[in-house]
Amino acid sequence: MTPDAIDTIYQRLKRSTIIQAIAPDDEMWLAAPDLSYYFSVGESAVLAILRALAIGSLQNVETILDLPCGHGREARHLCAAFPEASFTFCDLYRAGVDFCTKTFGGRGVYSAPDLTQVRLPGPFDVIWVGSLFTHVDQRRTAEWMKFLCSCLSDNGVLVATFHGRWAIEVQRTVHPLIDSDRWRGILRDFERTGYGYADYGDRYADYPASIRGRGKIIKLINFADSVPGGRILARRFFGLFERAPGYGVSLSKPEKIIEIAGNIPGVRILCYSERGWADFQDVLAVARTDRLKPLEIRPDLR
Ligand SMILES: C[S@@+](CC[C@H](N)C(=O)[O-])C[C@H]1O[C@@H](n2cnc3c(N)ncnc32)[C@H](O)[C@@H]1O
Repeated sequence: MTPDAIDTIYQRLKRSTIIQAIAPDDEMWLAAPDLSYYFSVGESAVLAILRALAIGSLQNVETILDLPCGHGREARHLCAAFPEASFTFCDLYRAGVDFCTKTFGGRGVYSAPDLTQVRLPGPFDVIWVGSLFTHVDQRRTAEWMKFLCSCLSDNGVLVATFHGRWAIEVQRTVHPLIDSDRWRGILRDFERTGYGYADYGDRYADYPASIRGRGKIIKLINFADSVPGGRILARRFFGLFERAPGYGVSLSKPEKIIEIAGNIPGVRILCYSERGWADFQDVLAVARTDRLKPLEIRPDLR
């Protein structure tokens, strides 16, 4: 995309009024209920996408998949930047999908624990994957990335985030992503293979301290523990202890992610930026432009 086209999108984003509605059960909001931070994370997603578009060959963005959409932390900025595009919102968390379609318009798709079994109404010009691979093991990251690349249009871009080396500092000094025993295992595999992962497990104690420390959540946890069947009720109505097996925390080296993307046929790696999303998660951008496409030599130069 040309610098002028990128600038037009950026100016549009800066001029637009961002939808302010936040779902009361938005986990990302509950984890850090600070408006300026919450909105800066969404805006940063658009900037990461614009950087990828500036490198790739796509001319126009008409279709966008936001997966996992959560409760629309990024969707509100994506819609402001690309008002003409048609959106698909997908997540395992159905309430999040419903909130996004109701609040931002577009189509909703309920996901499945195995993403490759989900029918996505592609092809998509842009697929934004904000903090999904940060929660799954290497096998699923590789399979799901390949699957999502197959859902891109010609020259379409996939922009996805990862816990890179900065996440080690976050775990140590900002807030724990997971308990220290599991973190030790993650770090060991990260050092050994370039990719570490551990399930959260289903103990509510694994919720990050930032969530457990919030008034309403802590009251719910206390309630759940104090009455017979309370934990079941909390799970059913508030999703409080929802921790599907196979959902946890991953930590990966840039070279491992490049290796995974490099094994996907028919695409090109556009860029990898450490801390490219919200100054926290690393960002990989891949385009569906065949890396082995023959040279296009002008007939008059042959
Ligand atoms: C950390 S949240 C990020 C959500 C959103 N992108 C944001 O930044 O607010 C991770 C999301 O991944 C979703 N998720 C986990 N497994 C999934 C799957 N198989 N298919 C789709 N979404 C999934 C979870 O339900 C959760 O909403």
